[in-house]
Amino acid sequence: MDRIRIVGGNKLNGVIPISGAKNAALPLMIASLLTDDTLTLENVPHLADVEQLIRILGNHGVDISVNGRRERQGESYARTIHFTCRNIVDTTAPYELVSKMRASFWVIGPLLAREGKARVSLPGGCAIGTRPVDLFIEGLQALSANIEIDGGYVNATAPAGGLIGARYTFPKVSVGATHVLMMAATLANGTTVLGNAAREPEVADLANCLNAMGAKITGQGTSTITIEGVRSLSGARHRVLPDRIETGTYAMAVAMTGGDVILEDTDMALLDTALEAIRRAGAEITETNSGIRVVRNGAGIKPVDIVTDPFPGFPTDLQAQFMGLMTMAKGTSHITETIFENRFMHVQELARLGAKISLSGQTAKIEGVSRLKGAPVMATDLRASVSLVIAGLAAEGETMVSRVYHLDRGFERLEEKLTRCGAHVERVSD
Ligand code: EPZ
Repeated sequence: MDRIRIVGGNKLNGVIPISGAKNAALPLMIASLLTDDTLTLENVPHLADVEQLIRILGNHGVDISVNGRRERQGESYARTIHFTCRNIVDTTAPYELVSKMRASFWVIGPLLAREGKARVSLPGGCAIGTRPVDLFIEGLQALSANIEIDGGYVNATAPAGGLIGARYTFPKVSVGATHVLMMAATLANGTTVLGNAAREPEVADLANCLNAMGAKITGQGTSTITIEGVRSLSGARHRVLPDRIETGTYAMAVAMTGGDVILEDTDMALLDTALEAIRRAGAEITETNSGIRVVRNGAGIKPVDIVTDPFPGFPTDLQAQFMGLMTMAKGTSHITETIFENRFMHVQELARLGAKISLSGQTAKIEGVSRLKGAPVMATDLRASVSLVIAGLAAEGETMVSRVYHLDRGFERLEEKLTRCGAHVERVSD
């Protein structure tokens, strides 16, 4: 199994190209199930989660071709992928596939909207929390779907004439349930109004793509989304938006090590709150023609308190990385996680590097230390593992991160991007 070896202490200087967003690419790919025409997605990151979803969609009958010639984009490769689902050949998403990646549960929306039925395995819990699917079920029931849960599967059927548009207000903000209800409602009879919808940029990206396919969606990016059902959707060509979590992660890495890096092909507006927190921690952040420049020279890291929240709040997907940064702040900071109940698994691993962190309920208290010391650590989930990389970049000596398959789920060519900026990071295969 691969491991990542980091020898800390180098500042980061150079250019890091930002990839297309994993969390936008996944729902966009699933949207290809809504049409018998070709959906072409540009700027798709090359990640384990994307490859897994390609397998899942293939199972439902989506014909997928990846552009042989990879389009060059800075140092990264952004792929263009064509998805064509002439016929849905299977409306079942089996446990073996859904259990590997929670987002594959989202096929329930398009399958139900296009075929009138879907049998999708419950995703089960995962390392960061129980993550139930009650909001998906309640929302689809509001669109008149009949739902039964049996043997670990959700069996959903639409009325004979198809799903029926309705008004549904989410009792809690959910990115996935907003994606699914929005996709399902595009082909429903009549108009659907989703209240308390997720405002994440990835939701707006999906809505924009669906509109390019002929859907009639308004209000994306706000908490009320209106979807006027249409009879069918066509193909489209759409570019996946930049990965704001990858952007924030590298910005925090620079704030941690010091240095001067341009994050290319990204957009400050996607992560205002996180960038503001990094600024308060002592980095200078400015907009450039091609992206964002992050600089930290001289001044030490200042402690900053944050609370995670749905967009536009501080993203839970950057919480672990920010904690990595705060381990070396000059003072004490507090980080409160409000989205997932078990997203502090990086705490114990950061402690192995010398961090001083104590937990009280959903709040971590981080007492900054003047130095971290490299150690063997274990990745536990995608974002937790990259927080160990950030800490390892600033630690003295060698940090060896095992279970890097977590990193490969969401960070494209991580070691290459960091190495080009002067870091000592390499993949070690056993
Ligand atoms: C998306 O997950 C992201 N995944 C997550 O990123 C991200 O952490 C999360 O949104 C929050 O921003 C993708 O986009 C593929 P939610 P999702 O439904 O949609 C509860 C990463 O590292 N909830 O917004 O699954 C849920 O348990 C991943 O890239 C219910 O109670 O998250 C959580 O507490 C990890 N019932 C909260 O809502 C439901 O039916 C928000 O979850 C659904 C969710």
